[in-house]
Amino acid sequence: MTPNEPRDDARRMVVFSAQRYDREGFGAVEHHGIEVVFLDTRLTARTAELARGAPVVCAFVNDDLSADVLEVLAEGGTQGVALRCAGFNNVDLAAAERLGLRVLRVPAYSPNAVAEHTLALILALNRKIHRAYNRVRDGNFALDGLVGFDLAGTTVAVVGTGQIGAIVARLLWHLRCRVLCVDPYRHDHLLELGAEYVSWEQACAQADIITLNCPLTDDTHHLVDAAAVDTMRDGVMLVNTGRGPLVDTDAVIEGLKSGRIGSLALDVYEEEADLFFTDRSDEIIDDDRFARLLTFPNVLITAHQAFLTREALDAIARTTLANAVAIVTGEPADTEVSSTT
Ligand code: NAI
Repeated sequence: MTPNEPRDDARRMVVFSAQRYDREGFGAVEHHGIEVVFLDTRLTARTAELARGAPVVCAFVNDDLSADVLEVLAEGGTQGVALRCAGFNNVDLAAAERLGLRVLRVPAYSPNAVAEHTLALILALNRKIHRAYNRVRDGNFALDGLVGFDLAGTTVAVVGTGQIGAIVARLLWHLRCRVLCVDPYRHDHLLELGAEYVSWEQACAQADIITLNCPLTDDTHHLVDAAAVDTMRDGVMLVNTGRGPLVDTDAVIEGLKSGRIGSLALDVYEEEADLFFTDRSDEIIDDDRFARLLTFPNVLITAHQAFLTREALDAIARTTLANAVAIVTGEPADTEVSSTT
């Protein structure tokens, strides 16, 4: 048997980077005969060997699916990767194709979850809820420094109006914002609502709030760099719930220091793979740029939790198991991604 031949007896899926909520999510749905093995460890070149013999590997956003890792997986008999996320920027798709490894994802589990978290960040950051919460618990009822602005009437740019961004745009529209959309594809339903499609440059020049809801690609890597920050409105609010590398962290730190960026909310961070999804409260954070971000009172960071709702976890588990079945049976799936996706 060659490594990539289907194995009738093997319906195992090894789940890397498994958290308690993953175990609960998968535990609550039908497994369709798939044996699910959870591993706490992240998928890397060093840990890929742990999947030997399993036809399906289930990976998350910070698992390493570069060519050398995929080679170890293919050599060990893996036939496909079932991503339990929408983004696939962490997969070397050309290498996967070369090795005959299928890559399937969960294209939409709950766009509402991410859109609502984006809105939560905007509202909390504007009204300084993160600071007010700590003050009140500390018996400090002073309001100094907590002045926000009315969202109604502000201009918000939604960058990426796919499944998530379209909901963000609608929510903001209903809060009576002027909504600017940046996307190579225009959605009629947003135009009918009254939103306007503009270029990235126009969005930077006009928006009071910019929210990044586009995928990470070669084109969008460091979309927010020093040059872009220079063209933004003074005091702009920047929100990133897309992927960390959409933003050049050094550029936004400089923007925060100069005041050009008035406030920043992040659910994703450029170097999050070494930080997020684990309890490091007893450790020294040795990422100086991240530590610097934490010193700003006008920065609000959540650790990649925008997706984390019960509904999303349920949908992720169901689609991932269906994808695992498609991999072990060799059946086609419309959740498959390729280098031309
Ligand atoms: P989608 O594929 O439905 O929409 C993405 C949109 O971005 C498309 O309309 C596309 O045309 C547009 N786009 C592509 N390049 C662009 C560019 N250069 N400028 C502006 N727009 C561009 O994807 P969906 O489901 O809306 O997700 C968007 C991203 O959100 C994902 O790729 C993922 O990175 C991120 N995400 C974050 C989560 C979190 O927990 N923080 C959870 C799920 C997704």
